[in-house]
Amino acid sequence: SAAEKGGYEYFMLKEIAEQPQAIADTLLGRLSDRGEIILDEVRLTDQDLRDVDKVFIVACGTSYHAGMVAKYAIEHWVRIPCEVELASEFRYRDPILDRSTLVIVISQSGETMDTLMALRHAKEQKARVLAICNTNGSTIPRESDAVLYTHGGPEIAVASTKAFLTQLVACYLIGLHLAQIRGVMYADEVAAVVEKLQATPDSLRTLLAGMEDVRALARDLKTASTILFIGRHVGFPVALEGALKLKELAYMHAEGFAAGELKHGPISLIDEGTPVVCVVPSPAGRGVMRDKVVSNIQEVRARGARTIVITEEGDDSVKAFADHLIVVPRTPTLLAPLMTTVPLQILACEIAAARGHDVDQPRNLAKSVTVE
Ligand code: G6P
Repeated sequence: SAAEKGGYEYFMLKEIAEQPQAIADTLLGRLSDRGEIILDEVRLTDQDLRDVDKVFIVACGTSYHAGMVAKYAIEHWVRIPCEVELASEFRYRDPILDRSTLVIVISQSGETMDTLMALRHAKEQKARVLAICNTNGSTIPRESDAVLYTHGGPEIAVASTKAFLTQLVACYLIGLHLAQIRGVMYADEVAAVVEKLQATPDSLRTLLAGMEDVRALARDLKTASTILFIGRHVGFPVALEGALKLKELAYMHAEGFAAGELKHGPISLIDEGTPVVCVVPSPAGRGVMRDKVVSNIQEVRARGARTIVITEEGDDSVKAFADHLIVVPRTPTLLAPLMTTVPLQILACEIAAARGHDVDQPRNLAKSVTVE
């Protein structure tokens, strides 16, 4: 009913709007007075976590994209090798696992069969398993050695939105926690990142208040035959997530690419007018990466692409190459997906609605897939 949807037309729109609160709730009470991160239900000792010499992140769908972002954060902060793998592929590859391997499984529902089977395989091999989950008492956290719950609240729409952003927050917290107990980061360095995380709900509120242009753009793109998404570093999983949302909801062909891979093949897909969404990294800190994406934007534009450029506030130099500019608030590079994903959620939702689809219940999809 309309009341359940809080006045929004779809649960998805309601859940998109709830994201600032969902992030704030997931961060609540996580920082001790001494600037240490507090995780819940972690039945692993600090020594167990210090002994970890390899991290695997295993998940499906949107949760897998959160895992891809986590890899960048964990390797950068913790300096432990970290691999991300689709749950449906993980165990069949016979991965090398032992007591000093930490397997992080990410699941909104906590019931995804592929992820559960991967977790059981990891446990049989004696690996330690830490779950990030949005559903209290579900099977995946019950079978794991430790859990960090995301406090996103129930997610009704099939396409995941607020669960994704809170999974990112959980991944950042785990990365910071590991970095701290292993002595790679000091408490004040951790607290500085947490402070930036705590600022994201307000930034996100500002962003959400200014999405009218994105809605208008969506109506304009509803007849496109394909939309391509490019990004680098943490912008790469954001590109994949943007494309996945569009496939799920609008039943349109869409693909996400690492911007640097374009020239190795996908650039031949670009035709006159092909919409290409470009996720531009922050100019701060990673200037080189940003400049490379800018040249990728110029390359696609020279071949006729219609460019939709997502960039940080204050980065005016990309304007010249953007047919449409979407500006997001500033964040540190690793946290940027908390901002850049959101216009892509809205884009997919609005394109789907403009095409007359049921946004909350897309055809052929289930919220939780309990078969392998
Ligand atoms: C299904 C849903 C996706 C979700 C995936 C993983 O395919 O339609 O939205 O990302 O499962 O779900 P999980 O609950 O494990 O995060």
